[in-house]
Amino acid sequence: MDKIIQVKDKRFAVSIPSDRIQAEVKRVAEQINKEYEGQSPIFLAVLNGSFVFAADLLREITLPCEVSFVRLASYQGVSTTGTIREIMGLNLDITGRPIIIVEDIVDTGLTMAHMLETLKTHNPSSIDICTLLLKPGKLQVDLDIRYCCLQIPNDFIVGYGLDYDGFGRNTKDIYTLCDEG
Ligand code: IMP
Ligand code: MG
Repeated sequence: MDKIIQVKDKRFAVSIPSDRIQAEVKRVAEQINKEYEGQSPIFLAVLNGSFVFAADLLREITLPCEVSFVRLASYQGVSTTGTIREIMGLNLDITGRPIIIVEDIVDTGLTMAHMLETLKTHNPSSIDICTLLLKPGKLQVDLDIRYCCLQIPNDFIVGYGLDYDGFGRNTKDIYTLCDEG
């Protein structure tokens, strides 16, 4: 029997149980521990969605490392190219340091593409992406995602940090939107 929850006006059913998430997070953390051996990376976790993932991931990391939480602020700039995105809360000097971006989910990939572009202007020694979830069917840009816990279908999901209109972040399992009607 599916576990169903209500978030605001929508119903969601469990799609990835907590023990599966934990196992995949541990697997990716071990991969990072191995591949970053001898290095001291800075983990940049993107708020709000990645706060749960970052907390679990970082507790499996055995490298000497730093963590910072950043936020992407969108505003309409003076340029005609549309939305400008700025990284807020980057209070560490990342020049010459290896960076691992910690993201909840890569959907179209546009957020990560913007983030990479902006981070590169700070001249880190390297940048890798570590995402909890990836929707390969929605990806619109060419992104090199080195670390990914789980690939999922194109459905809308909530839980384990991810929200629907601000709600639903506080669950241990991940839930998928039920068919309407
Ligand atoms: P992208 O720029 O299209 O890759 O969007 C990435 C952002 O959209 C993520 O960081 C999430 O905040 C949000 N997002 C994408 N898909 C979902 C979903 O299924 N549930 C909740 N948030 C999502
Ligand atoms: Mg996000």
